[in-house]
Amino acid sequence: MQRPIPVPTFDYVVFGATGDLTRRKLIPALYYRFRAGQFSERSRVIGVSRSAWDDARFQQVARDAVNEFVDPAYLDGALVEKFAACFFYVSNDVTDRDGWADLRSRLRDDEAVVRAFYLAVAPDIFERICVFLAETGCWRPSARVVLEKPLGHDLASSREINDAVARVFSEDQVYRIDHYLGKETVQNLLALRFANALFEPIWNAAHIDHVQISVAETVGAGTRGYYDDSGALRDMIQNHILQLLCLVAMEPPASGDANALRDEKLKVLRSLRPITGDTVSKVSVRGQYRGTASQAAAVRSYQEELPDDRKGSRTETFVALKAEIDNWRWAGVPFYIRTGKRMAAKVSEIVIHFARIPHSIFEDGVGAAKSNKLVIRLQPDEGVKLFMMVKDPGPGGMRLREVSLNLSFAQTFEDRMPEAYERLLMDVVRGNQTLFMRRDELEAAWSWVDPIRQAWDAAPDFPQPYAAGTWGPTGSVALIERDGRAWHEESDF
Ligand code: BG6
Repeated sequence: MQRPIPVPTFDYVVFGATGDLTRRKLIPALYYRFRAGQFSERSRVIGVSRSAWDDARFQQVARDAVNEFVDPAYLDGALVEKFAACFFYVSNDVTDRDGWADLRSRLRDDEAVVRAFYLAVAPDIFERICVFLAETGCWRPSARVVLEKPLGHDLASSREINDAVARVFSEDQVYRIDHYLGKETVQNLLALRFANALFEPIWNAAHIDHVQISVAETVGAGTRGYYDDSGALRDMIQNHILQLLCLVAMEPPASGDANALRDEKLKVLRSLRPITGDTVSKVSVRGQYRGTASQAAAVRSYQEELPDDRKGSRTETFVALKAEIDNWRWAGVPFYIRTGKRMAAKVSEIVIHFARIPHSIFEDGVGAAKSNKLVIRLQPDEGVKLFMMVKDPGPGGMRLREVSLNLSFAQTFEDRMPEAYERLLMDVVRGNQTLFMRRDELEAAWSWVDPIRQAWDAAPDFPQPYAAGTWGPTGSVALIERDGRAWHEESDF
């Protein structure tokens, strides 16, 4: 059982406190950390929003969120009460001076109390919030600001947001959340690559044939207006999947220092071969799900879910891409990435396909030696599997068979797997930016994604349809099969 290292006492100010993120993610994550003894009841969470709530109402929201979203095995009535007592509320319509004065009066001046502002609001009000934080004396040099996505919808808009924040907060005060980086299994990529001597000598184009990254979800896009403006490219690839790609592809950083790591990720992003109008149709596929009527529970198509004024939308709910990294380590090694809503299973995994054996000593008829595969399962059934060839035991001579060495986290570790936000929220208080995106990384990611978006927008075609509950449009299968390869199947795991 790991003992968490206590963090300093904090004043966490959450703008957008009445929203879903606070209830579903932030409050339960904080409760787990409180229960683990990582912070004491001297710490405060100060919710800010327009609604006319008061402390008592916010405390009740905290209790309800804990009861609804925390595993019942971790609930403890007396502890929940102590936890709820850490919650305070300020009603503030961002432009209202009285609200700011109220907020200012709730903040403790003691420098030993960490002050963090969590902006879980639409980015178009980031600027106003930052300006008011400065003007009303809430800002101080040691304060931190946490930014939730979406941080823009293209390079230009992300620059505007970052410029606005940068007029008040310096880069070392800014924590841009990509919740994938807080996932245990994503952090495990660092351990796997850099705490084992085994992989690094073969982690390159000489020994790796290709890499696959799949993030599939069974949920639909729902009726979120945000999704229709964004689409899978912006919602999942620009941030989460490119971050995964960076962790797989980056050079070993000289140290675990936040900037050393982020420098290496940035180099990967800058080495990505641009996908433009000339190449987009060869290396990308976008899809949109259709409904299904046959199953017991019929599933509506993306179009049916949309409000009337958005019908006919060409927003993609699925993307598959063949990405290439133009550097010495990865020249000629494609990274096939795909993500989608309403797919056959919820699964996120990275599959490293090693090169084939250079020469077979075996006779025909013993079975082909398949190339080795390292499957890193991020969720669910977190774990790592190494597929390799062995002799099928028994008489009758040599027969080759593929088996896997299986490291299942659930079987190996008894502890609950912490939620991404637990780690990230505490890292902000600790002042550790390692798992947060630096501005130049974010901009490099947009610089790669923007031309893809533009090429799609300029093309007359509609995203390819795929039936809900499948692995996406046939074009995605063709994308990889054209290169003589195939997507790793769920049943292979
Ligand atoms: C979010 C996206 O960032 O990540 C959602 O906006 C997506 O559309 C979610 O469903 C996936 O996160 P997770 O942790 O469930 O894989």
